[in-house]
Formats: sequence, C-alpha cells, structure tokens
Amino acid sequence: MDRMKGKTCVVTGGARGIGRGIVETLAREGAKRVWALDVNDAGFAELEKAWPNVKGAIVDVTDSASVAAFVGKAGAEDIDVLVNNAGITRDALIQKMQDADWAAVIAVNLTGVFNMTRAVAPLMMEKGSGSIVSISSVVGLDGNIGQSNYAATKGGVVAMTKGWAKEFARKGARVRVNAVSPGYTRTPMLESVPEKVLEPIIAKTPLGRLAEIQDIADAVLFLSSEEAAFITGQVLRVDGGLVL
Ligand SMILES: NC(=O)c1ccc[n+]([C@@H]2O[C@H](COP(=O)([O-])OP(=O)(O)OC[C@H]3O[C@@H](n4cnc5c(N)ncnc54)[C@H](O)[C@@H]3O)[C@@H](O)[C@H]2O)c1
Repeated sequence: MDRMKGKTCVVTGGARGIGRGIVETLAREGAKRVWALDVNDAGFAELEKAWPNVKGAIVDVTDSASVAAFVGKAGAEDIDVLVNNAGITRDALIQKMQDADWAAVIAVNLTGVFNMTRAVAPLMMEKGSGSIVSISSVVGLDGNIGQSNYAATKGGVVAMTKGWAKEFARKGARVRVNAVSPGYTRTPMLESVPEKVLEPIIAKTPLGRLAEIQDIADAVLFLSSEEAAFITGQVLRVDGGLVL
C-alpha cells in the first residue's frame, strides 16, 4: 500500500469515472498528493473528505493558460506522475457529425493531452524522472463505427505516447511515457451506450464482461510505479482480450 509513497500525482478528469478511480488508487498507495483536475467539481468534496492526500482543482485541459497556471503552482511540489485521463465522446456517423462534435472531442482528448504534457514534461525532464500515462481506448487501435472524432484522438494519443517516450528520455532524463487502452468500462460515459450494443461486445470478450474502473486504475498504477521502471512507449490493452 505504499507504491506511490512520496509521489505527487496529477490526474485529469479526476472527479468521476475512471479518473476518480485512478485518483483513489494512487491515494490509497500512499501518494504525498494526488491532484484531481476537472471542469466539474461535483466529486471534489467527497474525494477530499475520504482522502486527506487528495486535492481537487478546476482546470479545463483545453485551456492552455489554465493548465500553465495550475502547473506553475503545483510544479513547485515536483510532479512525479501525470495521468491524462479527461475525455469526452460526441458520437455520430460521419455524414451526421457536426463541426462542433469534431472540434469538441479533438479539443479535450487530443489538445488536452498535449496541453498537459507540454506543461509538465519539461519539469520532469529537468528533474530527470517522471511517469506520464495517457488513457487511449481500444477504439484508438481498432476504430469504431460512429466515432471518427474519438478514434482520431485516441489513435493520436498512441502516436504522441511513442514519440514522447523517445523525446523525454534524452539528455539523461528518464521520463517514461505509456498509454492504457481500456475496453468498454462501466462509467457515466457508458450510460449513453444502449445495452443492445454492449451485449455483443461482452459476448465476444474472452473474459466475458466489461471492464470495471478498478481494472483500468490498476494498470495505470502499475505503469506509474517503479515496477514499470524499464517500460516506456507502450500501450497496455485492458480489454479482457476483446481483440486477439
Ligand atoms: N468508459 C469507457 O468505456 C472508456 C473506454 C475506453 C477509454 N475511456 C477513456 O477513459 C477516460 C475516462 O472516461 P470515463 O468513462 O471515466 O468518462 P466520464 O465521462 O465518466 O469522466 C470523464 C471526466 O473528465 C472530465 N472532463 C471532461 N472534459 C474535461 C476537460 N476539458 N478538462 C478537464 N476534465 C474534463 C469530466 O468532467 C469527467 O469528470 C476518457 O479519456 C475516455 O475516453 C473510457
């Protein structure tokens, strides 16, 4: 229960769903501080009450000024772990996908990951160490009907992860960069997906169920921890064997 002992961690989209599970998992593992960043502060009070080492902060990852202001403040504590988790969907078949649907998903899922990493990685490089884990998706690896925008961003996260693993390991720095690619996971995001869509997915998943939030949080914990000290540039699928 001390795999994050002494570490300062930052998790975007930390107020609910997978992000919240990651915040709680890192806090349980003894992190010095876990920052839960979100545009919605609804979960902050409960998190801060349950975990004295958790602090919520309103930061919109699409707003590079707000990201820079936060990192300027928290950076003084040395950020050891960054988890780029914030993400949204605006699904539609391509002929029905509006400019606004495309732009909103790109802004949060792709530009948001870029904004956070651009602000945090130089500090980690200066310090010489750190771990960045971004949440991609099986959709970023395999594609999906009605998710042109989402698939583009999640594939983009994989490409940025691999480039950054090379870029941030220069000049003696050992900043590791990895991604977790969850399968369908029971969170508020999935509430808009009808059961009739989920049933065939469960049926073709060898392990016979959807992912739980803890499945994803445990993979993020592993990649964030010293147990993954020689792992960088990787995409860890956590999907019950959905695509084999
Ligand atoms: N649920 C799934 O099936 C699934 C599968 C694969 C990947 N993912 C990915 O996992 C991540 C978390 O998904 P979830 O299911 O927990 O979603 P969720 O909707 O339950 O939670 C997402 C959180 O991100 C926050 N957020 C949204 N826009 C933001 C912004 N601009 N700045 C900061 N925070 C913002 C939301 O307020 C929310 O608290 C996302 O990147 C998602 O794409 C989810």
